Amino acid sequence: MIITSEQISLKHLLTAESLSDQEVMGLIRRAQAFKQGAKSNLPDEQFFVTNLFFENSTRTHKSFEVAEKKLGFDVIEFDAKSSSVTKGESLYDTVLTMSAIGVQACVIRHSQEDYYNELIQSKTITTSIINGGDGSGNHPTQCLLDLLTIYEEFGYFSGLNVAICGDLTHSRVANSNMKMLKRLGANLYFCGPEEWYNKQYEAYGEYLVIDDVLDKVDVMMMLRVQHERHDSDEGFSKETYHQRYGLTVKRAEKMQAKAIIMHPAPVNRDVELADELVESYQSRITQQMTNGVYMRMAILEAILHGKA
Ligand code: CP
Repeated sequence: MIITSEQISLKHLLTAESLSDQEVMGLIRRAQAFKQGAKSNLPDEQFFVTNLFFENSTRTHKSFEVAEKKLGFDVIEFDAKSSSVTKGESLYDTVLTMSAIGVQACVIRHSQEDYYNELIQSKTITTSIINGGDGSGNHPTQCLLDLLTIYEEFGYFSGLNVAICGDLTHSRVANSNMKMLKRLGANLYFCGPEEWYNKQYEAYGEYLVIDDVLDKVDVMMMLRVQHERHDSDEGFSKETYHQRYGLTVKRAEKMQAKAIIMHPAPVNRDVELADELVESYQSRITQQMTNGVYMRMAILEAILHGKA
């Protein structure tokens, strides 16, 4: 059953897997419509939203801002460094304040996994929460824009062969994507250092060395080495990592012509992915960034439906 954009109404978006398949497909179709120039179907009212980023971001933060402005929302600026966070204000109290002053939706990125549990249990906080990334937990909006990018390319998910390669244990993108791609019928492979592989991923796919997946995959999804979440460099020089686990130019030559390269970015060029491949004909990395705006418009519209 296909649901229309008017039928998608979300209170919060915390994880991708909380969405039904119909909601996922509805958001993909709505994002495609926005990309083709569709206008918001929200009533002509004032909507206040804010972006609370406690961890650095370029793509998620700025594409939300573009999406919010395209939808005509009033975007309340927030910079943790010049806010009362510097006086010890907790995340709970920041969000409570936003809710009390009439902000209807907060996009939040925070280093603490599952930071949102305390917020959604509050009886006082009424603002909606959109998770812009929680530690190594979830990144639902990245997952949805990745699904949009894959759907635009192939038009289906079932039976696609997707390799997710690299810093698996630290990646919220990998966590969200493996769950959703598996549920939508894709065959998954995992590649990368064994010490960054967790046996619990066996429920989603097969662990192989990168050289053994090259000619199988439709989608080669590379992950950033998340230096900020590591205790040390864990023994890999950039060159060693690239040669052992990265998508080198030589490896990419073994991929099928129809296969695409994805990466949530920012990319550590010449570490997980060769510099020359970032903007190559098989890369969809800039398309992922562009799609982020349209998918976030679809998500914001679905969240604000419940507020109108
Ligand atoms: N892909 C992603 O989440 O990028 P940012 O950290 O720049 O938002």
